[in-house]
Amino acid sequence: MPKQNKLGVYIHWPFCVSKCPYCDFNSHVEKDIDVEQWEFAYLSELRWMADIYRQKTQYPSVLHTVFFGGGTPSLMPVSIVERILETIEELFILHPKIEVTVEANPSSSELDNLSAFKSIGVNRISFGAQSLNTKTLNFLGRAHDTRDIYKALDVAFGLFNQVSADFIYGIPGQNIGSWEDELSKIIKFDLTHISAYQLTIEPGTQFYSRSKKGEKLTCDDDTIADLYDLTTNVLSSHGYEIYEISNYARLNSQCQHNLLYWNAQDWLGIGPGAHGRFTMTENRRWHSQTRRSPDGWLSSVQKEQHGIEIQNEDYISDFAKEIIVMGLRLTSGIELPDWLIGKSDFINLNWLDEFEKDGFITFNKNHIRVTKNGRLHLNSIVSKLLN
Ligand SMILES: C[S@@+](CC[C@H](N)C(=O)[O-])C[C@H]1O[C@@H](n2cnc3c(N)ncnc32)[C@H](O)[C@@H]1O
Ligand code: SF4
Repeated sequence: MPKQNKLGVYIHWPFCVSKCPYCDFNSHVEKDIDVEQWEFAYLSELRWMADIYRQKTQYPSVLHTVFFGGGTPSLMPVSIVERILETIEELFILHPKIEVTVEANPSSSELDNLSAFKSIGVNRISFGAQSLNTKTLNFLGRAHDTRDIYKALDVAFGLFNQVSADFIYGIPGQNIGSWEDELSKIIKFDLTHISAYQLTIEPGTQFYSRSKKGEKLTCDDDTIADLYDLTTNVLSSHGYEIYEISNYARLNSQCQHNLLYWNAQDWLGIGPGAHGRFTMTENRRWHSQTRRSPDGWLSSVQKEQHGIEIQNEDYISDFAKEIIVMGLRLTSGIELPDWLIGKSDFINLNWLDEFEKDGFITFNKNHIRVTKNGRLHLNSIVSKLLN
């Protein structure tokens, strides 16, 4: 029997209090949510997916991670989260060190939920703090202010051992001095994990339409490169190791769930617009994608017990691409599986040599890693390596 991948479950909650102008995630503002219907739908799709996983892999389903993402899952009725976790316990063998994360917004209305989440088994909180600068929070259209962040982290530290926060940089007008100032405040929180993302302008967002009309909504590339270097240097000198292109962790605090994605392991995707992927055998990869619209997903689940829109076996070339695109984001790089080593139909071996000479990657037999110098050019490295 081949070595079994680690398995996780991703649950997507697609609702938020307001829509941020830069966000292209599947998130919607909706006041009237029928709690009973949504609970029923999540449980139903969860059972369906667990069944498919068992049928296609014949693995005993040891579950390593659960991740409630969004949207704003900290707004989920606690009863739904509780029923989902109870059902997960029924369907899977839980790994003794299972990681159960909820993404949260720092606004005060949600803080009451945190202790209830803890009591039902959530053990990791990831806050969308985004900035400690009031002007930046306004620019990003966030519904919270800096005081909310301090309050939320204070509550979270009283409850959880693993507390993460997301920040966005690369805002127009930001410079080394202002970002350094923000980083020095971020460090004082003593978070166990930090995600620091460069602002990207995504099609379909309000920022996208504004940028099409000529508004400049990000810093120039040279400043971004300087801010990135600064982030890595400051965080590493305070005990945060960069383990993925935008993610930094204290010892034993890497996000186990996101590592499943970056290492092309197995996860089931539940809820509107969720993707799931798992390996059936060696290089046979199964992929599911559910209906993106919340109403559409809900009515599909009510009719068919699941909201899957696409389910198929990936082409081997897609699996190869997934391994390279996701794996090279990790600073530790990737171990290529035997079926991918030295295969010029999947990896451009000339570019591999070229990038090694340039010092952008290190490569030996089955292990590829992007170096610190290569990280700034990750996208172009990956696209050239892929045939
Ligand atoms: C799934 S999202 C949302 C989590 C949560 N609802 C929130 O906004 O706080 C996860 C993270 O992606 C980042 N993000 C979303 N859109 C982005 C963009 N256009 N550019 C950079 N980072 C972005 C934000 O830091 C966000 O916290
Ligand atoms: S709160 Fe998060 S998920 Fe919701 S719109 Fe804003 S960035 Fe997107």
